[in-house]
Amino acid sequence: MKLNVLKKEYDSCKKCEELVNYRSQVVFGSQHMKKCPVLIIGEAPGKVEDENGEPFVGRSGQILNKFLEEIGLTRDDVFITNTVLCRPPENRNPKSDELVNCRSRLDRTIEVLNPKVIITLGNFATKYMLGTKEGITKVRGKVYEVDGRKIVPMAHPAVVLYNGSSEAIMTQFRSDFKVVKDLL
Ligand code: URA
Repeated sequence: MKLNVLKKEYDSCKKCEELVNYRSQVVFGSQHMKKCPVLIIGEAPGKVEDENGEPFVGRSGQILNKFLEEIGLTRDDVFITNTVLCRPPENRNPKSDELVNCRSRLDRTIEVLNPKVIITLGNFATKYMLGTKEGITKVRGKVYEVDGRKIVPMAHPAVVLYNGSSEAIMTQFRSDFKVVKDLL
């Protein structure tokens, strides 16, 4: 199956009533729609993503781009999506029923992409993919294998916005992205 065939199925998804009424559009994933060796899973689209129809195009996205660049990757080398495809009201966390509703879509996306490495950004995506209760600080930067797929959890790039680009945070991200680079 092709990614754009899958995308079409979800463009008019109406599983989550609150999100359907709030979103401007479904943000399926990177607009290039290419199969890439790296899949990045974030939490949920924010305002800018909801307007543009592409994940991580706001301020967190700029930070993500920078770290990708440092390991020699561009946005064209990765496919980006989120745990839920629609922007939650006021950027609240996705609710558990919304995560469940969007799960088969993510599983199917992974199957179609067949990525070499999956990066989960932040607690939501990480707990969702690893099924762990451990917080991101415990699991980040390690390689996990789930259903034969390699998963590398990392902090969400928004922490750089909230906590400032302290040397410690930047070093942590660089070391986690290096783990991904070594797997490619
Ligand atoms: N944060 C996310 O988790 N996903 C986005 O698409 C944008 C910001």
